Amino acid sequence: MSHAATPARPLRSDAVTALTGEVRVPGDKSISHRALMFGALAVGETVVDGLLEGEDVLATAAAMRALGAEVRREEAGGPEGRPRWRVWGRGVGGLVEPADVLDMGNSGTSARLLMGLLATHPMTSVMTGDGSLRKRPMKRVTEPLSLFGADFWYREGGRLPLAVKGTGEAVPVSYATPVASAQVKSAVLLAGLNAPGKTTVTEAVATRDHTERMLTHFGATVTVETDGAARVVTLTGQPELVAAPVVVPGDPSSAAFPVVAALITPDSHLIVRNVGTNPLRFGLYETLKEMGADLILRNERVEGGEPVADLEVRGTGLTGIDVPAERAASMIDEYPILAVAAACASGTTRMNGLAELRVKESDRLTAMAEGLAACGAVVRIEGDDLIVEGTGTAPRGGATVPVELDHRIAMSFLVLGMATEQPVAVDDAAAIDTSFPGFARLMNGLGASIHPLTETAAP
Ligand code: S3P
Repeated sequence: MSHAATPARPLRSDAVTALTGEVRVPGDKSISHRALMFGALAVGETVVDGLLEGEDVLATAAAMRALGAEVRREEAGGPEGRPRWRVWGRGVGGLVEPADVLDMGNSGTSARLLMGLLATHPMTSVMTGDGSLRKRPMKRVTEPLSLFGADFWYREGGRLPLAVKGTGEAVPVSYATPVASAQVKSAVLLAGLNAPGKTTVTEAVATRDHTERMLTHFGATVTVETDGAARVVTLTGQPELVAAPVVVPGDPSSAAFPVVAALITPDSHLIVRNVGTNPLRFGLYETLKEMGADLILRNERVEGGEPVADLEVRGTGLTGIDVPAERAASMIDEYPILAVAAACASGTTRMNGLAELRVKESDRLTAMAEGLAACGAVVRIEGDDLIVEGTGTAPRGGATVPVELDHRIAMSFLVLGMATEQPVAVDDAAAIDTSFPGFARLMNGLGASIHPLTETAAP
């Protein structure tokens, strides 16, 4: 796991004029976590193709094994010789007490969703994570989960390590989420799986709905009522979840890196195959189109209950825009790479309502503002908004940016380096393996020039 004392892996990215080719990005992280968790609660064998084999998802797999599920990987068992995963579940309420501390590594989704499951199992579990995860706020989940009857002990400010004593006599809960968070919504719904009656979550702004979609796919009764931007999600507790096959689409949050890289390198032409296009995840692409991106969705289809398409993109001059706060939930993980696109655009891009960025794998608002400024961009934070003044050409570059165990900060600055005059480096690219194993190899295969910091670039 990334917090083991491994040597740092500094990487640098040199300018290139084009990215060309066809590529598939790794599986969707959110869907991969859920496939393993729901498979572990279902009766029967769940077959998962396209699972993201990043460290975050592997942490979830290890946790589900520790809780009694059988989780196996078959090297070439899936379509086109890709790996296939199989999960044999224990039924709703059937998890067993873990014999040791659950280590969730860098993964907030693993930690928070799992807390939901643990809250309504009558057993005691202890959870920790890496230096980044141990800084992140957990009260946003422990507070609603306590309403079911679970008890939590945690460090100052609701930080990991944390112990949870789950309840065997859960009561159903009705909860309105105070922050727009799919993790909070999902934690409550997952706790509700092992509570009698109906558990309801109301969110003021719709967040990603993979939990709702996949629970339905596994046979649970989930209803969704919308009221403007708000949604009321109701789950009928103690369903029998029945194993169901899951095909994981490519992660739109990962596809964002080659897509923006192509947009900011003028002679690019790229096709990213099989990308999830769930509208609650697609705000970045909507935004890039508003900025003038030459971005086309081809071959739109539905696979395994999720919409999917191939993305075709060409190098384009981008124009700055105002990104409304209401869109934040649908692109919450994409602001770092959007800020890179904005730094290469002409005119001002104002990204509104980014308070949640401060509590991601790092404080991404500060990380982006400081990293872009170090690369010569004009950028400022006003309240919870990030403003980038683009000049129509990429900033100078020539900085080494601290990653702070944040995969998306690392990938964003390596993408920026593809367009800047001077190289851009990151002090430790190891965190990239949490969500996008093989990132540098994939990008270099398209024409990028990413190398260990100490190596000279290829001519
Ligand atoms: C996720 C929800 C989001 C997102 C994270 C994955 C999920 O977090 O940032 O990468 O899979 O539910 P929040 O719920 O904290 O917004």
